Amino acid sequence: MFAIISARPLLTLFAMLLACGALAQTESSSDPATEGPKVITEAFGKLSAALSEAVAKDGPAGALTVCSEKAPQIAKEVAAAHGVTLRRATNKPRNPNNAVDAFENAVLKTFAAALEKNEAPKPQILPLPDGGKSFFAPIILGNPLCLQCHGDREKDITPETLAAIQKLYPADKATGFQLGDLRGLWRVTFPAVQ
Ligand code: HEC
Repeated sequence: MFAIISARPLLTLFAMLLACGALAQTESSSDPATEGPKVITEAFGKLSAALSEAVAKDGPAGALTVCSEKAPQIAKEVAAAHGVTLRRATNKPRNPNNAVDAFENAVLKTFAAALEKNEAPKPQILPLPDGGKSFFAPIILGNPLCLQCHGDREKDITPETLAAIQKLYPADKATGFQLGDLRGLWRVTFPAVQ
């Protein structure tokens, strides 16, 4: 008897927590069309700042490790703050974890087809089997800084940087790019709204 009475406020509290959880969930899975670009702008800004700072301080070879450790960390932090998951994917990966899956590859191909026609590739929002949605946006190599680590192996990348890349990423496929090339895509995944 006593146990039942004292359990009631607890149950009420539990129900309130559930309600708050549901609210937070709704908020974090808000419209991918507006939230997707925001998440990417924030991650890209932080990544670019960390990259420029590291290259200025240590040169491209020294900045490599900063980049390999910081890029995934920044993506995780920004994603957690928005209640989404975030990744960069490509068909020419430096880090094998960033290789496109079949679904991402299909989107990447539509971006490449648009560029071939001299059109700007348009971001896409696609539904997932679990009820979530993914927002995709192209990553175009648009800054000469990128070439120091992703450009021509003889022209753009110093032997020192190339050696450092090959040591960290023996299976690297992410060189030989030119300004304006499609480097990959950003993918922001929004969980299913409960
Ligand atoms: C200092 C060298 C350096 C510079 C400069 C650099 N990157 Fe990278 N990039 C890397 C490294 C190292 C990785 C692998 C990161 C990892 O392990 O997740 C990478 C990974 C990537 C990826 C993820 C896919 C993959 O291949 O693993 C993309 C996309 C990318 N870079 C685009 C760019 C763009 C665009 C620029 C210019 C704004 C740029 N990078 C400048 C070193 C660099």
